[in-house]
Amino acid sequence: MTTIDTGAVIAAAETYARQELGGDGGGHDWWHVHRVRNLAVELAGEMGADRFVTELAALLHDIADYKISGSLTAGTEAAAAFCRDQGLPENVVTSVASIVERVSFKGAKVAEADLSLEGLCVRDADRLDALGALGIGRAFAYGGQVCRPMWDPDQPSQEHTSEAAYRSGTGSTINHFHEKLLLLRERMGTSAGRRRADHRHDFLTLFLNEFMAEWNGTDGPKPTL
Ligand code: ADP
Ligand code: NI
Repeated sequence: MTTIDTGAVIAAAETYARQELGGDGGGHDWWHVHRVRNLAVELAGEMGADRFVTELAALLHDIADYKISGSLTAGTEAAAAFCRDQGLPENVVTSVASIVERVSFKGAKVAEADLSLEGLCVRDADRLDALGALGIGRAFAYGGQVCRPMWDPDQPSQEHTSEAAYRSGTGSTINHFHEKLLLLRERMGTSAGRRRADHRHDFLTLFLNEFMAEWNGTDGPKPTL
């Protein structure tokens, strides 16, 4: 049986992700992948998950993602093709491809897909990067890229019951906090991810309260006349 040079596969996956995502300006750039990879590896260490599968799936998770390619299957196909090109055994190809296929959020009222422990580490890491200061920055970067208003008080916030409804939503970026970001803490799949989510969730809440106070003119002391 041939042994796998895992270091060489990870280096090739990194090169592939840098090349595919380097230029994205909507929060799905290489540095998002870099952060998710580091966090996922950290979570995998704490949870006793397989490091190689976790790291590889994290590096491949956003290649040809729906938000970039417009296809629901292209990302999974690209991940499987990459793994086969690297000569990985079919069980590893399947493990990695099924994580890439299932990692995405699919709507507030849509049940989470079943994932392996490695998949839960990747999903939690991806979601931690959607929370906190980084998550706020990414949400507004993406909203701007797809021409969404920051906030529209006339649009009620929505909780989607199907993936199709979630994917076709055109709400404001603040609405995205309600349809997804604020729900993530309760949907963490690992104890290690959950521990890290609390602080980032609280930071989102702080930001939202300040945003609304400034929007409504109720922030801070009024200037004295
Ligand atoms: P997922 O795979 O769960 O969709 P990604 O890592 O691909 O996660 O990125 C999702 C991120 O993209 C969100 O957390 C947010 O930063 C951004 N995003 C997606 N949809 C919207 C939206 N409608 N408004 C603002 N940001 C969005
Ligand atoms: Ni991602």
